[in-house]
Amino acid sequence: MQLRIVYAKLGFFGGDDSMLHESGQQVEAEAVAPWRATAASEIATVVSNRAIASEYRRLVLSCGPIASGARPGQFFQLLCPQPAGEKPFLRRPMSIYATQADPHRIEFLYKVAGAGTRGLETLDAGDTIDVFGPLGVGFTLDPQWRRIVVVGRGAGLATLAPLARAAAEMGIGVTAVLSARRPDLLVSADLFQACGADVIGVTDAEATSGPANVEKILRGLISQQRCDAFFTCGSARLMRVQQRLAAEFAIPGQIALEQQMACGIGLCYCCVRDFNVDGGIVTRRVCWDGPVFDLAEAMP
Ligand SMILES: Cc1cc2nc3c(=O)[nH]c(=O)nc-3n(C[C@H](O)[C@H](O)[C@H](O)COP(=O)(O)OP(=O)(O)OC[C@H]3O[C@@H](n4cnc5c(N)ncnc54)[C@H](O)[C@@H]3O)c2cc1C
Ligand code: FES
Repeated sequence: MQLRIVYAKLGFFGGDDSMLHESGQQVEAEAVAPWRATAASEIATVVSNRAIASEYRRLVLSCGPIASGARPGQFFQLLCPQPAGEKPFLRRPMSIYATQADPHRIEFLYKVAGAGTRGLETLDAGDTIDVFGPLGVGFTLDPQWRRIVVVGRGAGLATLAPLARAAAEMGIGVTAVLSARRPDLLVSADLFQACGADVIGVTDAEATSGPANVEKILRGLISQQRCDAFFTCGSARLMRVQQRLAAEFAIPGQIALEQQMACGIGLCYCCVRDFNVDGGIVTRRVCWDGPVFDLAEAMP
């Protein structure tokens, strides 16, 4: 039997909210929202691109409304300029660090690691850059939560930072456990604090960043009822600590994963990772199914 519904413009059959089934019966029309792009490639203009710690830079871009609508945990594919003698062939994925709607702005916090980010480093105010996004599935905040715990390390701190503002807007308290090699590399601590988060910095230099000490801190937060959910990025060791605690105390969690990417839109399968789903191994594309995933299912 043919199930296909013949769609007709509202009003074609006399202006009522109905459409015609192939059988000839009139059926109630569902409101069809007009199609709107959720991602776009556009030429953004550099507002500033400043060093904020010895290894990190903050890039602020003037952009359009689609880009500035990015949500925490989503990312952009940046067409990086070519630094002298190098050709970063593919676009580079970069998480959103901050957004602003009026005027439209997006920000990235990046660590200079290779040809692409060395190219980003050459950008000056007034230059332009091709950005494609926002892409991927971002973090989700449950309005029932009262307090969340955010645990990040290295460039992962940039990915987690916009959660602080989103949580504050929903009246959800945040404790951020930020990990780095040295205190001066705890890059997004200011942003978390400005949004009212409690920040606990742990560093290799002070011998406080090891999994045993982080577990002690997290157990303390759980016992004080300050952990309705975990959010993490940037460290497989810290991920395992949170997975253990999440299972022990039945706490939900989300993790933002990083994987080398090519297309960024689910077509090339170069970013596939394994996930443990109900004891079986399932493969997923980090760019398309993530980069934010259920903490319990992530594998190192
Ligand atoms: C969704 C997503 C969001 C990201 N957000 C940020 C961000 O906000 N800030 C930031 O600084 N970086 C971020 N990254 C990481 C950044 O995209 C990579 O470091 C990128 O390779 C930098 O490009 P490059 O040309 O400078 O360095 P490349 O020359 O590409 O890489 C430098 C070195 O890092 C290694 N490498 C690159 N990517 C990975 C990886 N996924 N795992 C292991 N080794 C790797 C390369 O093999 C090489 O040795 C993100 C990555 C993803 C997937
Ligand atoms: S980067 Fe192509 S599928 Fe993910």
